[in-house]
Amino acid sequence: MRVLVLTGAGVSAESGIPTFRGKDGYWRNLDPTKLATPEAFARDPQLVWDWYRERRERIRNARPNAAHEAIARLARATDEFLLVTQNVDDLHARAGIPAERMVRIHGDIFVTRCSRCDFSYAGRGGSPEPPGACAVQPTYGRLRSIAATFEKDADLPRCPECHALARPGVVWFGEQLSRNELERVEDFLDGGACDVVIVAGTTATFGYIIDWALRASQDGAGLIEVNPEETPLSRFATRLVREPAAIALPRIVDELAN
Ligand code: OAD
Repeated sequence: MRVLVLTGAGVSAESGIPTFRGKDGYWRNLDPTKLATPEAFARDPQLVWDWYRERRERIRNARPNAAHEAIARLARATDEFLLVTQNVDDLHARAGIPAERMVRIHGDIFVTRCSRCDFSYAGRGGSPEPPGACAVQPTYGRLRSIAATFEKDADLPRCPECHALARPGVVWFGEQLSRNELERVEDFLDGGACDVVIVAGTTATFGYIIDWALRASQDGAGLIEVNPEETPLSRFATRLVREPAAIALPRIVDELAN
């Protein structure tokens, strides 16, 4: 079987991570879709960092839910599988999806990177894995002191290489997606027709999400949408499951994996 899964914030909702556009998403009365922008960071980097630090803390304390577990089970049961997630949390990884079977198209909240040069540092988050690859590989001692600087609450983190402001390693509204990650999605789509496409927990507001779902399902693959609400993809779905992902996905994966 060849399977593509696309996920969004709704998949992590039952782990206690607020969605972007849901009523819980507001933070200090601020709209997250306005905070996750280069403009907000330029105007008030401290505010944006405060928000990201709180989100990091919440994600560290969260656990993967039954939806993450079900998707990881599907990945294990499938020869050719790709998960494309818009989520910057690490809950898919902690549920056991290997990095080579997952594209984190909006980045990783635990990465801190320079806003000017190519320095980046991958913090641990809630993951059991050691820190990931850095663009600049510091020695372990330096890595620890960099981590301490980046994680410190009071200060705005600065790049240890060029002293420009550091920022979270996520894709903000209006920013380019990583070329490397885009190529990984394109390679999978070019690699053959899918049997099943699952889109779960996303409002599908971005054109590329709709495009990938439609391209992957155009040769007759079933397009399953898991979302309590209607989205722009609903009218193309061959199966609509209007239930929370943690309830629907374990059942769907049971059906597909048997
Ligand atoms: P949104 O917050 O826009 O949408 C969450 C979706 O999940 C909605 O369609 C809900 O109906 C659905 N939902 C809520 N609870 C659910 C549950 N328990 N099970 C299944 N579905 C549920 O989040 P995304 O679509 O992921 O980008 O947002 C896409 C991107 O916009 C984010 O990655 C982020 C955001 O701004 C950037 O930061 C660039």
